[in-house]
Amino acid sequence: MAPRSLIAGGLVALAATGDALATVQRVSTGSTSGAAFFESETLQLTEASLSQLSENQSAWFDFAKNDSDLHTRSFGGCKVFPGDWLWPSEWVWRLFDELLGGALIKTVPLAASCYSSWPEYDANECETLTSEWTNSNIHAADPASVMWPLFEGRTCLPTTNASASCTVGGYSSYAVNVSNVAQIQLAVNFARNAGLRLVVKNTGHDFNGKSTGAGALGIWTHNLKEIDYIENYRSPSYQGPAVKLGAGVQAYEIYEKANELGFTAIGGEGKTVGVAGGYVLGGGHSPMSSIYGLAADHVLALEVVLANGRFMTVTEESNPDLFWAIRGGGGGTFGVVTSVISRVQPKVGVTVSTFTFSTGTNVSADTFWAGVRSYMKRFPAHANAGTYAYFWVLSTGTDSFTFMMNPFFAVNHTLAQYNALIKPWYNDLKALGISFTPNSTYYDNFYDAWNAGFPLETVASSVMMTGSRLFPRENWETASSFNATFNALHETVANGYSLLAFNVKAELPDGYTPNSANPAFRNTLLHAITSTSWDANATNSEIKSKMEDFTNNVLDKWRATCPDAGAYMSESDILEPNFQQAFYGSNYARLYKLKQRYDPTGLFYVPTGVGSENWVVKSEDGLPDQNGRLCRV
Ligand SMILES: Cc1cc2nc3c(=O)[nH]c(=O)nc-3n(C[C@H](O)[C@H](O)[C@H](O)COP(=O)(O)OP(=O)(O)OC[C@H]3O[C@@H](n4cnc5c(N)ncnc54)[C@H](O)[C@@H]3O)c2cc1C
Ligand SMILES: *[C@@H]1O[C@H](CO)[C@@H](O)[C@H](O)[C@H]1NC(C)=O
Ligand SMILES: *[C@@H]1O[C@H](CO)[C@@H](O)[C@H](O)[C@H]1NC(C)=O
Ligand SMILES: *[C@@H]1O[C@H](CO)[C@@H](O)[C@H](O)[C@H]1NC(C)=O
Ligand SMILES: *[C@@H]1O[C@H](CO)[C@@H](O)[C@H](O)[C@H]1NC(C)=O
Ligand SMILES: *[C@@H]1O[C@H](CO)[C@@H](O)[C@H](O)[C@H]1NC(C)=O
Ligand SMILES: *[C@@H]1O[C@H](CO)[C@@H](O)[C@H](O)[C@H]1NC(C)=O
Ligand SMILES: *[C@@H]1O[C@H](CO)[C@@H](O)[C@H](O)[C@H]1NC(C)=O
Ligand SMILES: *[C@@H]1O[C@H](CO)[C@@H](O)[C@H](O)[C@H]1NC(C)=O
Ligand SMILES: *[C@@H]1O[C@H](CO)[C@@H](O)[C@H](O)[C@H]1NC(C)=O
Repeated sequence: MAPRSLIAGGLVALAATGDALATVQRVSTGSTSGAAFFESETLQLTEASLSQLSENQSAWFDFAKNDSDLHTRSFGGCKVFPGDWLWPSEWVWRLFDELLGGALIKTVPLAASCYSSWPEYDANECETLTSEWTNSNIHAADPASVMWPLFEGRTCLPTTNASASCTVGGYSSYAVNVSNVAQIQLAVNFARNAGLRLVVKNTGHDFNGKSTGAGALGIWTHNLKEIDYIENYRSPSYQGPAVKLGAGVQAYEIYEKANELGFTAIGGEGKTVGVAGGYVLGGGHSPMSSIYGLAADHVLALEVVLANGRFMTVTEESNPDLFWAIRGGGGGTFGVVTSVISRVQPKVGVTVSTFTFSTGTNVSADTFWAGVRSYMKRFPAHANAGTYAYFWVLSTGTDSFTFMMNPFFAVNHTLAQYNALIKPWYNDLKALGISFTPNSTYYDNFYDAWNAGFPLETVASSVMMTGSRLFPRENWETASSFNATFNALHETVANGYSLLAFNVKAELPDGYTPNSANPAFRNTLLHAITSTSWDANATNSEIKSKMEDFTNNVLDKWRATCPDAGAYMSESDILEPNFQQAFYGSNYARLYKLKQRYDPTGLFYVPTGVGSENWVVKSEDGLPDQNGRLCRV
């Protein structure tokens, strides 16, 4: 038996109080990353602290013995699932929670307040939740909720029918509300030793359900919010200012902080996306990308808990293979990142412009598309000038269409410079008789421009899915390849599918260390997203055939214009054919090899992740969601 005090307080809780155990657990040595550990990173799991457990207890929480120790519990080739006899008993979960210092949360679906079968049932709360459902903040602040309920399995949506069914479904069974590294190590060791499915959830933005899974233990990183400024970071390839951010830091937080410090931080356009989580690990495009490349390119060091439970500093010197793989090779795949150190860029002025134009009495569909075509012709010039543009083209009825510039983000352009850049297109629109009223404003810093240009987006629709393509520069090089590109996009919208797209380039800047981000990003000029949707009452088989038609027919037209290009894994189609080529390109073989080295038992699984072809989720409704057992293929 372990000492009573240990069980009562938890390894972690005791360490935090600074008593005897703390000297064992609190690791005072600085990181080799070139910057000090965060407070949360000084609390680490050690052999010494584990040795205070009885043998039977420590068997659940020990580190992996060695790299060739492939022994793993499983249930007929599947991860151990709730209800299986191998599922850890109540006392084990209690012990785990005690070791975590009380940070274990048993999942209650976010919408449980709408259902009389749950003790959380509360009609008022349900009403509030229903009105807030499309706000990303409520999902980010929940230990298990995700923003694409379709891929959870739609097992507990907001409803006015209190007697309908709400189950935990594809949400993780438990989540650890992480506030230090030792808790992540305990969770990783426990999931590995017990043969459980493990998921990492940060904000839950992932388009393909990568942050959720039935029967899983979740590691919820949202509360790792520390930010440090490093005035003069030094590495072999960089000397200068950098920021170190905790895994839970969101875009709006780092942007605000960097602005205060007098810099521009690299993050996405989405306000609440987790910068150091899935965003940067999957590559990460940014309003600054046309000048500075991907967010992953900016990462100089990471602190990571690996599948064997060990906490490692990953830099170009200390672990060059992982440094390459984890920056762009995808979230939830190689380990749990606790922080990243990232370059920051100087402050820069930005002109933000929004406008719309539509078909109407004086604008036929052909005229409208001539206006769009004139814009598309200018993608090389605009991206080469360092600008980023987010625009939508929507079908609004038979032969009626709307174009929305949402916004044009002209980095390092004064109003006059922006107007000069955009003038040839505006002139074409005017010549076509298309009327539009641009609202263009210059901001002397990124933060204010971004705040003005990118309002909080709505999330959590359960009646749609997306697909995308990174169209390469070659598609603009000849009249026929340009026509084919234009025609494919035109046809998609004319058939009623929306186009939400980014004119952007994302080359690796000179002198930056190469990484595993999708090579298709390096020569793209257009990251285009489209989506399909269905009625709320559609049956599963109707949804399935919609999805398949979308993947095989709608998106195939895009692929046909650039068969060797790819798609951005983080804003994509979960059914993307040959996802290895599309999301990872020529990097896949090396990524797969490294996956086998660092995670030989497949502890980390995410749909369409590296190595995911070795696993299958046996989903209950037959859709490609996470509501089912995870089994070896
Ligand atoms: C509204 C909206 C706007 C967006 N805007 C942009 C944009 O401008 N640019 C862009 O590139 N992308 C954008 N995205 C896509 C976004 O980058 C991805 O959804 C990304 O995966 C989100 O990462 P997260 O950590 O916030 O989300 P989560 O869903 O919590 O996690 C995503 C994946 O990363 C893994 N992960 C999370 N944290 C860690 C960690 N600490 N260690 C290891 N793995 C981890 C998870 O397991 C999961 O596989 C947007 C998405 C939405 C919904
Ligand atoms: C430890 O586990 C062994 C084998 O599972 C069992 O025989 C023994 O009774 C356990 N001891 C305690 C103290 O639980
Ligand atoms: C690795 O661990 C396994 C299982 O504990 C053990 O059988 C094996 O001998 C170990 N190998 C080495 C090289 O230590
Ligand atoms: C509410 O849900 C129950 C259980 O699924 C179902 O039988 C009933 O028809 C539903 N009521 C309404 C009004 O949809
Ligand atoms: C998670 O832990 C933090 C402390 O790190 C605490 O403030 C927060 O309330 C906890 N959240 C939940 C949902 O338990
Ligand atoms: C259409 O064109 C006519 C003639 O130029 C003009 O008077 C009218 O205002 C235009 N209508 C719209 C909706 O722009
Ligand atoms: C901004 O543009 C000026 C020229 O107008 C150029 O000299 C400068 O290098 C640019 N800055 C960045 C960060 O690209
Ligand atoms: C113009 O855009 C800015 C954001 O850049 C916004 O604050 C302002 O309200 C807009 N003005 C009009 C007239 O739409
Ligand atoms: C491209 O399309 C335009 C407009 O439809 C047409 O005039 C031109 O001949 C086409 N060029 C090629 C090479 O297909
Ligand atoms: C589903 O809902 C749509 C409206 O959203 C309605 O037109 C249709 O009849 C419904 N179908 C069934 C089978 O209930």
